[in-house]
Amino acid sequence: MTVTFEITPITPADLPRLMELERASFSDPWSESAMAATLEIPVVRALAARSAGMLVGFVIAYLIPPEGEIADICVAPEARGTGVGSLLMRTLMEHSDCTQFYLEVRASNLPAQKLYEKLGFQRIGLRKGYYDRPREDAVLMAWELAEGNG
Ligand SMILES: CC(C)(COP(=O)(O)OP(=O)(O)OC[C@H]1O[C@@H](n2cnc3c(N)ncnc32)[C@H](O)[C@@H]1OP(=O)(O)O)[C@@H](O)C(=O)NCCC(=O)NCCS
Repeated sequence: MTVTFEITPITPADLPRLMELERASFSDPWSESAMAATLEIPVVRALAARSAGMLVGFVIAYLIPPEGEIADICVAPEARGTGVGSLLMRTLMEHSDCTQFYLEVRASNLPAQKLYEKLGFQRIGLRKGYYDRPREDAVLMAWELAEGNG
């Protein structure tokens, strides 16, 4: 059976489900107040992937053309490995006026690094001790619009 996903903007009513996915996915999840406040920021773009009406993934980014910063991406554990993360990232990036994107990712988070590399992101640095719970370095990655990355 082919599962199809619809990409739509996140609304305030999605907040409880965002927090559910956030807590199921991260050892240091955003707080609900930080999430709610971030969604209110005018330059923030927040997209959800929905399957049969159920929110199964989301991405949150700051878009300040020509630069974008991926702040958060998360897919429900049972929906991972089916292309949701790639679809969210591609949709966000293609429907922005940004020609460069940046993000940080835990050094141990190889699935996420693989996803970003597949999309054309490259490692450009390391932020020592960037994360808490547990303390860990962040790999800084960047993407630039170029032939083959469009
Ligand atoms: C990282 C994450 C968003 C990926 O979402 P996803 O929907 O599973 O990703 P996709 O199915 O689109 O996979 C895209 C590519 O990512 C890589 N990838 C995804 N899961 C992987 C895994 N478990 N191991 C290795 N590579 C993996 C593969 O290269 C894959 O391409 P392929 O299917 O052609 O091999 C998801 O695993 C997740 O929500 N993780 C927890 C939250 C998180 O770590 N977010 C990132 C914070 S920086």
